[in-house]
Amino acid sequence: MEPAARKLKPATGQARLPLFLRAAWGQDTPRAPIWVMRQAGRYLPEYREIKSKASFWEMCRTPELAAEITLQPIRRFGLDAAIIFNDIMTPLPPMGVEIEFSPGPVIQKPLRSLKEIEALTVPSQAEIAPFLEAAIKLARHELEPTGTPLIGFGGAPLTLATYLVQGSGSKDFEHFRVFLRTEPKAAHLLLEKLTELSIRYLKAQIEAGAQAVQLFDSWAGLHDQRTYREFALPYNRRVFEALSGLETTSPNGLSEAPRIYLAVGSSHLYPVIQELPCEVFSLDWRMELGQIRSFFPGRTLQGNLDPTVLLASLPVITEEAERVLQGGLGGPHIFNLGHGILRETPPEHLAHLIRVVRAFDRQQANQR
Ligand code: CP3
Repeated sequence: MEPAARKLKPATGQARLPLFLRAAWGQDTPRAPIWVMRQAGRYLPEYREIKSKASFWEMCRTPELAAEITLQPIRRFGLDAAIIFNDIMTPLPPMGVEIEFSPGPVIQKPLRSLKEIEALTVPSQAEIAPFLEAAIKLARHELEPTGTPLIGFGGAPLTLATYLVQGSGSKDFEHFRVFLRTEPKAAHLLLEKLTELSIRYLKAQIEAGAQAVQLFDSWAGLHDQRTYREFALPYNRRVFEALSGLETTSPNGLSEAPRIYLAVGSSHLYPVIQELPCEVFSLDWRMELGQIRSFFPGRTLQGNLDPTVLLASLPVITEEAERVLQGGLGGPHIFNLGHGILRETPPEHLAHLIRVVRAFDRQQANQR
């Protein structure tokens, strides 16, 4: 295990570091910080208002719009972290791949052969997403008064490859899984290129001001341990290693951005995933945090409320959230959902969840 995962950054001024960053760097904070995946999105009327006037790509590629959407949930709820609005697909068009959203990503010409993969270019860091760097700078400026930290993100190489080869979302992703078996050389070349792309995409975000980064491996859970070890682990490791020690600007001067890894439906992979050099593991709801902790000794756990709980009544939300908070007590914990918030979620249910999480005193609960 990489010792870097355990050190607190920066060494001075820790008390002034926002709660989210303290927890991400491994501190057992007095209460769990909370943010939620997809906190800027279709469940918010103010998001739908912008969406009615702009296409999804326009929203991603216009810095003022992307920054505004990022801030919407912060203004409404005052969460403990903001996540820059964009998409894991953002760096792919500059490689030469056409993508539309309907509402999930649709690849015009799915990649299936070595020749098509050889034709992909890896754009330079400056070419990938200058609009995203501008959006991050705008959002950081707006967030300054509240001190809310800003998270950058990208897709893990395997998850990006899943979409590029399958062509769209799917239940079984059968084209992709067959491709890994029949074209392993082409698959490794694709993953090599996507690894380099992801490193540049995430570095650009940290250099622009992202104070933490999350790597989304939404489809890792499709695979068995052996396949994950061959096609995911080495590439994810390279991405995280390349981001180690990168400095971002913060109110306290320069500090490193903690690295968060999210895999969905992947409880069977935890014994392998734990080898990744990152500070935070974001987990879905399929196992309780208390049971998971032993797989990730000394690391911060993020999660893991089932997003459908937010569709239930307020007393159910309280009960389920407290169960998650209780499970998170054995070490550093960042409260989040196990996956993105659902479109049908009433915003006041998220407001209630935030109140429940903020009212939960971890020190007191630990003594009970
Ligand atoms: O969390 C946030 O608030 C930041 C924004 C964000 C978006 N996508 C905006 C978005 C983040 C972090 C993502 C990540 C993302 N995008 C992932 C990984 C997370 C996950 O869900 O597993 C994936 C797989 C994608 C690809 C993607 N983009 C999908 C599957 C979809 C459809 C989502 C859906 O709910 O139907 C998108 C479109 C997208 N990206 C939307 C948003 C807000 C919905 C677009 C709309 O308004 O119609």
